[in-house]
Amino acid sequence: MKGQWQKQHFLDLADFSAQEIMFLLHLAQDLKQRWLVGDQPAILKGKKLALLFEKPSLRTRVSFEMAMRQLGGESFYLGPQEVGLGKREAVKDVAQVLGRMVDGIVLRTFAHENVLEMAQYAGVPVINGLSDLHHPCQVLGDLLTVQEKKGTLEVKICFVGDGNNICHSWIVAAAVLGLHLVVSTPPQYRPQEKIWQWAQENGVQSGATLIYDPDPHRAVKGADVVYTDVWASMGKEAETEARIPVFLPYQVNELLLQKASPQVMVMHCMPAHRGQEITDDVIDGVRSVVLDEAENRLHAQKALLALLLSS
Ligand code: CP
Ligand code: NVA
Repeated sequence: MKGQWQKQHFLDLADFSAQEIMFLLHLAQDLKQRWLVGDQPAILKGKKLALLFEKPSLRTRVSFEMAMRQLGGESFYLGPQEVGLGKREAVKDVAQVLGRMVDGIVLRTFAHENVLEMAQYAGVPVINGLSDLHHPCQVLGDLLTVQEKKGTLEVKICFVGDGNNICHSWIVAAAVLGLHLVVSTPPQYRPQEKIWQWAQENGVQSGATLIYDPDPHRAVKGADVVYTDVWASMGKEAETEARIPVFLPYQVNELLLQKASPQVMVMHCMPAHRGQEITDDVIDGVRSVVLDEAENRLHAQKALLALLLSS
């Protein structure tokens, strides 16, 4: 099952090789095909997964819970009011206590350092279920979706909107896998320079093309995939009103899509703010694959859990 997969944690796609990510996607596709015919191998029988979430969630929580159940394991949820990560108790202590009782931890948190510290002390696999810097689980499901729908990852992908955690994970994925990615954000909301630099340097070997273009209409020209996400991420909601006028030119709407490839596919990690970063007609339209993306979180994470938790 594990093949060339040797890693203990899943924190950031930068920790993985292209071979490891492709291996995981292959396994995800295999598990999905089996699931479609009612075959659910109990490879995680007896395994326990803790979901420790400091922010709300629908997809991440449900997909991990269902993934564990379908693979014969168990999971439980600890919400924002329960643990008080770093407040009621130090991250290090939470990590060590949980590590004595469970086989794996999914952490959704604010500071990415919390994810790193959890992994350092837990002694069991830690999965980043979203931090302010990265959302690698989402991009796994997205890669699976692009591959399924386009038959290849060798397409032009354009991320339009805020240079946030989803954008960062796409930049890292592009560098590792040698993808063609154009990022279009307002100049003051560019992705973090450190991540961009890392990707530029590491993308040379993989043959990635990483372009930043603040003009969304130029950026989406000929794009096979147009991806967007909320303009104000969780924790930044108070900035929404101030951000709207700055981001309005970056709205994914019919006019913008006319510049993309005629076969363009529209992606969004959800939750979506309809009428802000994406219009109703686009998210509900025939080019949108947002529900396939959401479902693929389940399949991609089943593969991830199988690789991290199976003996
Ligand atoms: N896309 C995603 O992670 O959704 P949730 O915030 O609902 O988990
Ligand atoms: N960028 C968004 C992603 C939600 C899945 C956020 O962090 O709120």
